[in-house]
Amino acid sequence: MMETDLKKVISSKTGDIDVIMLHSQKGGPGKTTLSCNIAYELARRGHKTVLIDLDIAQPTIHQIFQIPEEAIEYTINDILLGKIQVMEETLIETDNPNLSLILAESRVDYGEGLLSLMKSIQDHAFFILHEMVKSLQKFGYQYVIFDCAPGYRSESVHAATVADARIFVLRPSTFSFEGAKQMLLDIYKKMNISSMNFFVFNQVPPDLSEKNRELLDLWIKELIEEYKPHCIEFLDILPISFEIMELSMNGKYIFPQKTELFKKMCYILETVISKIHDDKGK
Ligand SMILES: Nc1ncnc2c1ncn2[C@@H]1O[C@H](COP(=O)(O)OP(=O)(O)OP(=O)(O)O)[C@@H](O)[C@H]1O
Ligand SMILES: [Mg+2]
Repeated sequence: MMETDLKKVISSKTGDIDVIMLHSQKGGPGKTTLSCNIAYELARRGHKTVLIDLDIAQPTIHQIFQIPEEAIEYTINDILLGKIQVMEETLIETDNPNLSLILAESRVDYGEGLLSLMKSIQDHAFFILHEMVKSLQKFGYQYVIFDCAPGYRSESVHAATVADARIFVLRPSTFSFEGAKQMLLDIYKKMNISSMNFFVFNQVPPDLSEKNRELLDLWIKELIEEYKPHCIEFLDILPISFEIMELSMNGKYIFPQKTELFKKMCYILETVISKIHDDKGK
């Protein structure tokens, strides 16, 4: 076998893995909704994808994919605590064979348990998450999506450094904007995360007044300016959708393909992935 062919075989065996994390400073802008839809769509397009619930205090992905408790033997909590390494049993299957989940412990002990868990994972989360991604790559996965807890929790911040790209989700509110700006300057800029940062406004009223549309444009410009000399790119404005709200009342979180949200989510997905590939020279 020619040397170049051999290289191809080796690289196709391990493949390469792209890691995207979704974050916000305030709670509730739509990280989980977008994470699930991005992961679901990647899998639908035939890519082997793992969606990871890194919101250990308020996990939701097990509910969204309706995974019964008895099917969850190991969780991200066990991995973060260094009890286990990622293995077949940690990866929960879904209806789509290309989409696997790593879930968080659904019975959260909100007293001492959670506090000591957060304390114990603080120091090791970066190394553990990095090792986990490497193992997932060996298992042949192509994409990892981290759905993070909002704010400054250590596992979210570590996931940001492990990821190839970060998507910040904001609501069109002054609190969301000021919070995002603060987090970007306090954490991301200080950690020197200089590129492959993106942001998106979600839950935007469809008929914004001209004045508020201008305000949104101003916020977009200001975030980009404040983050300089590093780079954060604006992705899109996603509308608030009553259809999605009604679907979520019935436990359905995946955007139907005919909806505007689906089209915009695909645009976000394609933009971020093509930039990751450009960045890696793929
Ligand atoms: N564009 C949208 N239109 C209508 N409803 C939406 C939209 N995006 C998200 N939602 C709804 O908003 C709520 C919060 O969304 P989600 O749980 O994804 O936010 P989150 O950022 O993950 O929250 P948390 O910070 O608590 O983890 C959910 O009920 C979801 O269905
Ligand atoms: Mg969430």
